[in-house]
Amino acid sequence: MAASGEPGRQWQEEVAAVVVVGSCMTDLVSLTSRLPKTGETIHGHKFFIGFGGKGANQCVQAARLGAKTSMVCKVGKDSFGNDYIENLKQNDISTEFAYQTQDAATGTASIIVNNEVKTLFNPAPAVADLDPRFYTLSDVFCCNETEAEILTGLKVHSPADASRAAQLLKGRGCRVVIVTLGAEGCVTLSETEPTPKHIPTEKVKAVDTTGAGDSFVGALAFYLAYYPNLPLEEMLKRSNSIAAVSVQSAGTQSSYPYKKDLPLDLF
Ligand SMILES: Nc1ncnc2c1ncn2[C@@H]1O[C@H](COP(=O)(O)OP(=O)(O)O)[C@@H](O)[C@H]1O
Ligand SMILES: *[C@@H]1O[C@H](CO)[C@@H](O)[C@H](O)[C@H]1NC(C)=O
Repeated sequence: MAASGEPGRQWQEEVAAVVVVGSCMTDLVSLTSRLPKTGETIHGHKFFIGFGGKGANQCVQAARLGAKTSMVCKVGKDSFGNDYIENLKQNDISTEFAYQTQDAATGTASIIVNNEVKTLFNPAPAVADLDPRFYTLSDVFCCNETEAEILTGLKVHSPADASRAAQLLKGRGCRVVIVTLGAEGCVTLSETEPTPKHIPTEKVKAVDTTGAGDSFVGALAFYLAYYPNLPLEEMLKRSNSIAAVSVQSAGTQSSYPYKKDLPLDLF
């Protein structure tokens, strides 16, 4: 994800301030009373199709907050792919670089170009042997507890654990590390503030936490692009608040708030 913007600067129609390179997935969700055993067919009582994929989720959240966004992705040349492109358009996301392919098995590659825009990297799904350039090339490295554990080999269940993991990740060359902690908010560590800082959040009753991390990352990209002079800690507090809204209703993108539904002091 790349974010670039300055307040007061007039963006041309076609210029996106938040560009997300990532996945677009169609979620096929069946509600059942239990999981089937291998080879077993069971009845489901509800079925729905949703728009998911971590990259697209983050892009949708940034767009709903008012960011001018563009999604760089590849989907199949099939009905799910067509629907997904339509979903991006419905969310006012530029589809200029949303490609469609006949080859369903086409893989995707993330390419980081050091082009003087702010880059926010979310190592999901995490692999222990992540290419070390991801640590040094991104401006902001944001992961959740599980990803922090995989990357560092440390157990991460509390703000104190997350602080230790953040220090280790910073040692690998990250400029700013953020570890999200669910209802505990997040922990951050940056070049300017050498001691890790816990940014707690108001606890809410979670209905469905799917995609909370993507809502958080999308919101953070929005603040980096549109409020670059806001202190990082304030950006994180606000991103916590936006992600908290997303956990209070069901679904992934369907639970992401729009600017008009949020308190004015977040903008
Ligand atoms: N129960 C909750 N109450 C308040 N905020 C929450 C809750 N769960 C998640 N959040 C918010 O969502 C962010 C991301 O959640 P987390 O569970 O860490 O990510 P992921 O979706 O990747 O597992 C947290 O940093 C926090 O701001
Ligand atoms: C963190 O994100 C990964 C996807 O990379 C997900 O599988 C995992 O459940 C998340 N962890 C937590 C604690 O929510």
